[in-house]
Amino acid sequence: MTLARLSSVVVLALASFANAAPSLLARQAFTTLSTAEVAAYKPYSYYAAAGYCAPAATLAWTCGINCAANPTFHPVASGGDGNAVQYWYVGVDTALDTVIVGHQGTDSKQILSIFTDINFGQKTLNRTLFPGFDSSIKVHSGFANEQAMTATLVLAAVKSAIATYGVKKVTMVGHSLGAALSLLDSVYLPLHLTGVTFRTVLYGLPRVGNQAFADLVSAAGTLTHVNNKKDPIPTLPGLILGFHHPTGEVHIQDDTEAWVACPGQDNNNALCTFGKVGNILGGDFNDHNGPYDGVMMNCHD
Ligand SMILES: *[C@@H]1O[C@H](CO)[C@@H](O)[C@H](O)[C@H]1NC(C)=O
Repeated sequence: MTLARLSSVVVLALASFANAAPSLLARQAFTTLSTAEVAAYKPYSYYAAAGYCAPAATLAWTCGINCAANPTFHPVASGGDGNAVQYWYVGVDTALDTVIVGHQGTDSKQILSIFTDINFGQKTLNRTLFPGFDSSIKVHSGFANEQAMTATLVLAAVKSAIATYGVKKVTMVGHSLGAALSLLDSVYLPLHLTGVTFRTVLYGLPRVGNQAFADLVSAAGTLTHVNNKKDPIPTLPGLILGFHHPTGEVHIQDDTEAWVACPGQDNNNALCTFGKVGNILGGDFNDHNGPYDGVMMNCHD
C-alpha cells in the first residue's frame, strides 16, 4: 500500500469514527461478561481468599486452598507472619496449569491506616529489584516497602515451582493490600523470569502508583482487577494525590450483579467504580470483601 493510500484509509477511519453517535461508541465500549466467563474467575477468587489462611509449617493449609474449591493445588512455599509481613504463598494448580502467587489482604480499616500514614508518599522502585526502571515510575511507598520484604523469596519459590512442575504460566492473585502487593509482583517477576507468560487477577485493588506506573502496567495488558459494587477502596488514594489505576477493571454492578469490563483507566462511567463511587464518601465498606460471584475474601473453613 502506498503512503498516500494508507493515509487516506486512516483519514476515512477517523472520519467514520467521528460520524458515529457518541452514545453508541460509549455503549459499545462496555462488555458484560457471560455466566461462563464469570465462573472462570472462581478458582482465582478462592486463591485470592486463600491468602488470608495462615500457612502451617508443613505447607498444608488448614483451610482455604485445601478445601474443596481448588483440589488441584500443590503448595510449593509460603511465608510471612500475618503481622509485620503479610502471608504469602506460591504453588501450582495442575488443572489450570499455572503457578499461583498469592498475598494476604487486609480489612478496609487497616488499609485506610496505611493510606493515611503521613510517612507514606510515593517513591521510585528499588533499583536492585526493578533494574532499569525509569525514575518517573513511582508507587506508594508503603506498598513498595512491603513487597520488597518478600520479593526475592517469592521469586525463588516461583522458579522452584516452574522447575518442579514444568508449567509455563504464572498467575498472581490478591485482594485489597494483597492485590497491591501482587500488582507489584506482576511488574517484578517478569523482570527476572523468561519462557513463561503472566496473568494477574486482583480483587478490591487500591491505586498503587502514579500515571507512569499505571501506563506501564496497562501496556503489559495482563491484568484484570475486579471491583465489587460500591467498594470505596479502589478509589483510594485519590487521583488528586497523583495515583492512577491501570486498565483492566471489571466492575460488579450494584443492582444487577453483572460483571462489566470497563475500558481505559479510572473510567468515570457509572458502570465502573470511579464513575459509580467517585470517592470514599460514595462507597460502602461492606462491599470490600465481596461476595465476588459468591466468594468472600476471607479464609474459608
Ligand atoms: C533494594 O533491594 C535490595 C534487595 O532486596 C536490598 O538489599 C537493598 O537494601 C534495597 N535498597 C533500598 C534502597 O531499599
